[in-house]
Amino acid sequence: MDPFDFQQRTRVIFGAGSISRLGEIARELNFQKTLLVADRGMIESAHVDEALAPLRKAGIRVSSFHEFEVNPDTRMVAAGRDYAAPFQVDSIIGLGGGSSLDCAKGINFLLTNGGEMRDYLGYGKATRPLLPMIAVPTTAGTGSEAQSYALISDAETHQKMACGDPTAAFEVALLDPLLTLSQPQIVTATSGFDAIAHAVETYVTTRRNGLSEFFSREAWRLLDINYERVMQNPEDAKARGAMQLGAYFGGVAIENSMLGATHACANPLTAHYGTVHGEALALLLPTVVRWNGEVAGQRYAELLHLSKRSDGSAPAETLARRIEELAMKGGLKSTLAAAGVPEDDLPMLATEAASQWTGTFNPRPFDVDGAMEVYRRAF
Ligand SMILES: [Fe+2]
Repeated sequence: MDPFDFQQRTRVIFGAGSISRLGEIARELNFQKTLLVADRGMIESAHVDEALAPLRKAGIRVSSFHEFEVNPDTRMVAAGRDYAAPFQVDSIIGLGGGSSLDCAKGINFLLTNGGEMRDYLGYGKATRPLLPMIAVPTTAGTGSEAQSYALISDAETHQKMACGDPTAAFEVALLDPLLTLSQPQIVTATSGFDAIAHAVETYVTTRRNGLSEFFSREAWRLLDINYERVMQNPEDAKARGAMQLGAYFGGVAIENSMLGATHACANPLTAHYGTVHGEALALLLPTVVRWNGEVAGQRYAELLHLSKRSDGSAPAETLARRIEELAMKGGLKSTLAAAGVPEDDLPMLATEAASQWTGTFNPRPFDVDGAMEVYRRAF
């Protein structure tokens, strides 16, 4: 067994309607003047009001920041810092999908440690502790609520930067499955697929260990069944809860195991064509599973066994087919050509994919040739 050093930094509260406890939880953490970072969709879906009511009841002063988009970039995070600085907040609450949670972490880095996001690329670059934060995710996907990394895009190059610090972990993750009912179907499909990719990729990385495997397995077991259920019946609150837990477990797995070639190949598609993260993963995950088959077949067999889907054929092929089936249920495209990726761009994309940090943890050594092979097969 590989050694590990696991510290659960985030208190997790799970339950339907738990958003009503936000004020009491913030009070326990001594929040007095807080910054609520929530994307604009959160105002329309009334989740901002649902968060503000218990906070105000608890006597907490709240300033709200909404001026950012999906895949928040360095400029949006700097705007958040400029907005928040005069209020001298003592804490931050991220409400929304992965973009809101990442933006909250990014603003926190700049407010507490100054400089710009680029200064925090990598891990442990903050010299002062970040402000305490609460995560209230409203999608089931990124698992950002379980991670001490902020994923922020460079506004000029659109490359995603992973900026991590032990103090960038949320103090509390408040998981209320009822909040995920408001997701549009396409967001359920793409964010849910992101969680599936996290379960599958983290289970085979070179960094995995007995602890991360535990979370990957449970994530896969929950997501494999419940992704279909929420796609068929978006009102199924039980399945929504299982998806939210699966996504959270996937996030814990990433924190302890990193990711692999699927994320390395997906990121350049988002950077160049704005492909939604989960859509990009759906185009690539089955191909990467087949490509990894020669070194990770036995591990894939374990996942199949867990979800009772072993069928006697090669495990990588069976798992890849199951993932293709899930992508189809989510209405996600299955080839790069169908997604409009120009064939001539493949060599450029392969060069960028091979330079992604996340690819270094793939079980089969991953380089430009490997990336090219994956893109060609997925085309
Ligand atoms: Fe992801």
